[in-house]
Amino acid sequence: ALTSRVQTVHETYAREALPRRKEDGHKGTFGKVLVIGGAVGYSGAPYLAASGAVHSGCGLVFLGVPESLWAVEAMKCISAMPFPLAEKEGGLSCKALPDLREKLAECDVLALGPGLGHGESAVRLVHTLLDETSKPIVLDADGINALEGHIDSLDGRRGRVTILTPHDGEFLRIGGELSHGDRVRAAREFAIRHGCILVLKGHRTLTATPEGNVLVNTTGNSGLAKGGSGDVLTGLIASLLAQGTTAVQAAALGVWLHGRAGDLAASRLTAYAMTPKDVISALPEALIEIG
Ligand code: APR
Ligand code: MG
Repeated sequence: ALTSRVQTVHETYAREALPRRKEDGHKGTFGKVLVIGGAVGYSGAPYLAASGAVHSGCGLVFLGVPESLWAVEAMKCISAMPFPLAEKEGGLSCKALPDLREKLAECDVLALGPGLGHGESAVRLVHTLLDETSKPIVLDADGINALEGHIDSLDGRRGRVTILTPHDGEFLRIGGELSHGDRVRAAREFAIRHGCILVLKGHRTLTATPEGNVLVNTTGNSGLAKGGSGDVLTGLIASLLAQGTTAVQAAALGVWLHGRAGDLAASRLTAYAMTPKDVISALPEALIEIG
């Protein structure tokens, strides 16, 4: 019964999934996103994730980074709100937990992982947050890598919203099975087994649900295959989720919008020259098409 539920995501899906804006809405109505990530050497990733969220409709975006990066992020962000967290050797650790918990309590969605680094202390932090928070989590990059060898800790979040956004390398690292060449099957099996939403990125990104459905994206191009593109997507998905879409809609619409903005950027700038920043700049046009 779980074998044939595959659907492609086109503009009509995107138009229906996009949350309508309440005329009398306020910041709280549109949701608050907390982005956690960054380490010395990775200051762009958390910034791009926060920017993806800022430019896609949520009400507030907080950005928690190691204190040694904080001044840099604060210089770049004028709409997102960066704040410093206790760090260990240039990356986040469990020392950041008290401040993190306080901020997370007032937010609707956690986006965890961009540029986090893969030190042991970052891994422990990811596990603690996965264990203790009931808030929806979008887990990306080193947040996903932290699950290597501990994928069962994801099963502990069954019934709570967890969206994983791995590229193939990250997917393989956490036990995904790509050797038989059937990406749809691989994504579906993983999402069912671990009770999560799996966004398996790449050409024609797949969104697989714990119920066994798979949504195949139709937008995007090779100009997205550049450092930082994935971070933009993470913020975008978190922002849509904070605005009240379902988790599956946030993932599939986020992927569609990201790809469509990428296509618009490529048509003007070429797939060679476009950057993740240009994808963010093209989001307004992509949103106009489905608004
Ligand atoms: N066609 C369409 N889309 C593509 C293509 C393609 N040929 N190639 C890549 N993309 C899209 C993916 O679907 C995804 O949305 O570009 C994005 C790339 O995301 P990531 O692979 O996460 O790349 P990146 O943003 O560089 O990640 C930065 O995080 O995941 C880690 O190891 C990664 O350290 C790196 C960091
Ligand atoms: Mg990535």
